[in-house]
Amino acid sequence: MIPALLDCDTGHDDAMAILMAGRRLDLRGVTTVFGNATVADTTANTCRILELAGLAHVPVAAGAAAPLEGTFVHESGVHGMTGMDGHDLPPPAGGAIDESAVDFIARNIDATRGLHLVATGPLTNIARVLTSFPGTRAALAGISIMGGSTGQGNATPVAEYNIQADPEAADIVFNSGVPIRMVGLNVTRQVAATPERRHCLRSLGNRTGQVVADLLDFFSDRLEERYGLAGASMHDPLAVAALCDPDMLRFEAMEVSIEREGAHTRGMTVCDLRHLCPLTLRRQREPLGCPNAEVAVAVDAGLFWERFIEVVVACP
Ligand code: BDR
Ligand code: CA
Repeated sequence: MIPALLDCDTGHDDAMAILMAGRRLDLRGVTTVFGNATVADTTANTCRILELAGLAHVPVAAGAAAPLEGTFVHESGVHGMTGMDGHDLPPPAGGAIDESAVDFIARNIDATRGLHLVATGPLTNIARVLTSFPGTRAALAGISIMGGSTGQGNATPVAEYNIQADPEAADIVFNSGVPIRMVGLNVTRQVAATPERRHCLRSLGNRTGQVVADLLDFFSDRLEERYGLAGASMHDPLAVAALCDPDMLRFEAMEVSIEREGAHTRGMTVCDLRHLCPLTLRRQREPLGCPNAEVAVAVDAGLFWERFIEVVVACP
């Protein structure tokens, strides 16, 4: 299995990403960041889910409480006050280790050849690692990111939440030279936790299936109210799938720039979808765009559900 760390802001769909990473990757640790709630709450939620899934041995390291610039404002509209409303899991028995997320990630990159990162929250911790420990850029095998979009946004008309929450960090990560897979809203919104799929999870008969179905009920209600979607989007586990099950996604290499200035576009991932050949670019005297990411452009939603159900079945 592929060795990996998961950096997340747990979160309903981050919880699903933890389950999938714990069963389908060689998960060496989970690091936390502000986002769907305060970092104290995303850390507690992470420990709760690891304990639920029988993964309490996986170390958790707490990270950034705010973006590189500006402050964090907790927006409880989508994930509720705790960041993971919908099922009251007991307080975690364990907690975070006594090492910062940044030091923990850098130490593991150094210690494990071929290590990948999966990022399902704002990219603050990862940007700090890449700037404070520049040697990690060449040592990392890749970063699989849930973030951005080739089209519509959610936090704003054009910006996706994880990128918009810390565009300066996203800019550092996308320009780091580390191989990047970007899994954005353009594909994650195609994988919806419809009422039938939630019913199927609840009928599996194990505790994890019940908890996952309750969490997805809450998350689905919020996304339906807010965006008129037919069920929660399985955003974050798809960034895990991009690493362990890349056959369920189709990627295209392209240049992705992070907009940091625009009054209406800050946090947008500007994806060059033009497929211009180098000769055309030269004729038009445009600067040669250099692909810096493999961007997911299509997804097999049915295959995702089959594999996700297998993951939940394998949990207690
Ligand atoms: C992303 O933002 C959060 O609401 C989710 O956990 C996901 O990582 C989707 O835009
Ligand atoms: Ca998330």
